[in-house]
Amino acid sequence: MRMLVANWKMNHLRADLEAFASTFLQGYGAHPGVRVGVAPPFPLLAPAWAAFEGRGVEILGQNGHQEAKGAFTGEVSMAQLRDLGCAGVILGHSERRQFFGETDALLARKLPAARSNGLEPLLCVGERLEEREAGRTLEVLGSQLAILGDSGPGPLTLAYEPVWAIGTGRRAEPGQVAEAHHFIRVELVRHLGPAGESVPILYGGSVTPENFDELLAIPNVAGGLVGGASLDPTKFLALVRSAQVNV
Ligand code: PGA
Repeated sequence: MRMLVANWKMNHLRADLEAFASTFLQGYGAHPGVRVGVAPPFPLLAPAWAAFEGRGVEILGQNGHQEAKGAFTGEVSMAQLRDLGCAGVILGHSERRQFFGETDALLARKLPAARSNGLEPLLCVGERLEEREAGRTLEVLGSQLAILGDSGPGPLTLAYEPVWAIGTGRRAEPGQVAEAHHFIRVELVRHLGPAGESVPILYGGSVTPENFDELLAIPNVAGGLVGGASLDPTKFLALVRSAQVNV
């Protein structure tokens, strides 16, 4: 199963969402072998669900809190995401790790919180440039994936997103992607047993319609987590069409 997820980050107003949905849905037909998701910012979750309802587009949160409810001003619970129609939630995006101090220990709590509320976690891992340059890429990925050791069974999607490739226009080279995705597969199987064989591993970081075919041809690449190019419905549609070819 392939998968493509639009990560809108802190972009778009309601009118942008309406314009996106109108253009995208004119050209989009769901394909049984390709899951398509949109992760809008929190205020757009309800209108996104309404715009895409019944059209084969999943809605995901970009983050969720580890506690069920309570005095956590400014936070959103997993149950609230589910209540608005979310099928999944992005966890551990590098911007959450970098700007909001999210740690692996915190993510180890968010993962079961998501699942127990019926949300599929989309867990992001990836090395920073200085870590790659120091030859520590696989070590970093291994330590970020260690939280899966205690996570138990349940739905899961992974995203490999080298931090230096996010929003920079500098996507990782095919050899680098192949090495990282292979390593992630091995770690998934080590932590999850045979279930780890079928966890989709997406690539993220400066994915565009121009480079996506090459990325999809790499073993263990099941699709993409897309930021910048996903804001444009025509580009996102082109990415979806690439994923739908030769599934
Ligand atoms: P980008 O972002 O496609 O703009 O590089 C990807 C992401 O952060 O998920």
